Amino acid sequence: MTSAPLLPAPVTVRVPAKVNLELLVGPRREDGYHHLATVFHAVSLYDDVTVSVADRYGVSVSGPLSTGVPLDGENIVMKAARLVESRFDVEPVQVDIRKGIPVAGGMAGGSADAAATLVGMDHLYDLGLDREELEELGAELGSDVPFLVSGGTAIGSGRGELLAPVLARGTYHWVFALGEEGLSTPAVYAECDRLRGDEDVPEPSANPALMAALRSGDPHELAPQLANDLQDAAISLRPALGEVLSAGMEFGALGGIVSGSGPTIAFLVEDNESGIDLAVALTASGAVRDVRRASGPVHGAHLIQRRVD
Ligand code: C5P
Repeated sequence: MTSAPLLPAPVTVRVPAKVNLELLVGPRREDGYHHLATVFHAVSLYDDVTVSVADRYGVSVSGPLSTGVPLDGENIVMKAARLVESRFDVEPVQVDIRKGIPVAGGMAGGSADAAATLVGMDHLYDLGLDREELEELGAELGSDVPFLVSGGTAIGSGRGELLAPVLARGTYHWVFALGEEGLSTPAVYAECDRLRGDEDVPEPSANPALMAALRSGDPHELAPQLANDLQDAAISLRPALGEVLSAGMEFGALGGIVSGSGPTIAFLVEDNESGIDLAVALTASGAVRDVRRASGPVHGAHLIQRRVD
């Protein structure tokens, strides 16, 4: 008797969100991207991405934060799966995402799912890719994807895809104020260009004082070094973000910053307890719709489960 060949068991990969501790935006490049000097920091808000062998490509999204995610070939996870298929001898996959990262929130949720798909397909099909190879594939999909493969805290240059490690001590505690509605990353970069007008913009480079603060492990030292060149543009498009920032600072945050291109606002707090207090105060004030607490740095995309039927 012949039996059907055994399919590899589905794998689930957990992938974190990111916040940029510093996001310095340089001149616009010929390809439309901007030169960046950024410090990525992976935080403990996660998407769980399950990758299974399927007859054809498919994607599903679940969880309280799942609205607004495209479910067709436009989804970056489908692009990730097809990229792997174009390089290796693999079957199509079904990708099921459980969302814990805000959608279009400036926390790289889509890029995180793409990173998880690459890592998931690597495990599913035993491709034996190392981190560098996964990061190189990731760079073809989006500027933030390589960082979500590696996680931790890292400097990003180029358009954000070239990574260098940063020595960071300790754990930092964060409260994230979620926006009512997402912001489009290209629109925020375009607004940044518009606000700058003809201004001469220098090539950016990461701030040594931020590196020193990260070595200290002290959130009081880190707070004054948080910086984001996209913040004014995000506030210009969504003025209410300015009020959320003021409210968080008034309620005791050590520092506050628009996360990436927004609209999520990241507040750095002293410790876990202060995070609970700030989350309660922000929610009670009505200044924000929803908050999440998290800490960082955490690992990048990693396998959490392989189902054995
Ligand atoms: O690389 P990714 O697809 O995530 O970038 C999304 C958009 O953000 C780009 O299309 C571009 O408009 C903007 N961007 C940029 N400069 C960067 C990274 C992103 O202008 N370094």
